[in-house]
Amino acid sequence: MERYHPVSAGLHWLTATLVIALIALALFDQPLEKALGTSSIRLHKSLGMTVFGLTLLRILWRLRHRAPPLPESTGRMQRAAAWAVHLLLYGFLLGLPLLGYVLSSGGPYPMHWFGIAVAKLPVSKSVGDAAAALHVWGGYAMIALLAMHIAAALHHQFVVRDRLILRMLPAIR
Ligand code: HEM
Ligand code: HEM
Repeated sequence: MERYHPVSAGLHWLTATLVIALIALALFDQPLEKALGTSSIRLHKSLGMTVFGLTLLRILWRLRHRAPPLPESTGRMQRAAAWAVHLLLYGFLLGLPLLGYVLSSGGPYPMHWFGIAVAKLPVSKSVGDAAAALHVWGGYAMIALLAMHIAAALHHQFVVRDRLILRMLPAIR
């Protein structure tokens, strides 16, 4: 089976780890703050900005390295669904950090990326509040989309048993 380039796969799993961590930090901020002894939302912002940068790199890389062709047996609807979900995921990976940046610009706290000061946009409170609402709803929409994405991967692994996940794993000799 043809696989994704190891760089594509590496970026996929690094992004997946960061996204799961930053969703957990947003949803369970209080308990995680106690457990980690550091501000959950500050870490959420730093990881979110990292995801934005990685996604820009990933899209540039992806434009020059096509996805391996899907198995012949893949139906048209399935191809369309996979394509749409992947495109939407890229949209969220760029859109949510941008909304987060606007919402945080409207808030009272200074912005940092792992301790490095980041300039804030001069936005009014109402723009910041609108971005906050979109960021939170968008965040939940992305969680729903990820649930579908992960369910599809597990369905291929355990029901269809076509070892599709190997496409996203480095080759094991
Ligand atoms: C949690 C954050 C995740 C994000 C943001 C994400 C995003 C993406 C994106 C954008 C693609 C399309 C790659 C391309 O063709 O350009 C992709 C492919 C893929 N993802 Fe994820 N993913 C995540 C988690 C996971 C997890 C947890 C699994 C496994 C359980 C998984 C399994 C796969 C597989 C197998 C493919 C390749 C599909 C194919 O064969 O074409 N992903 N993912
Ligand atoms: C892929 C990247 C991101 C994802 C998936 C994401 C996801 C989320 C989610 C699901 C929430 C909702 C928590 C809740 O209230 O229930 C949230 C809240 C928040 N996010 Fe993000 N986020 C991302 C990037 C960012 C970035 C880059 C920033 C700032 C620079 C940021 C700042 C915030 C702030 C300040 C909140 C709290 C908002 C409020 O409760 O009013 N996020 N995020």
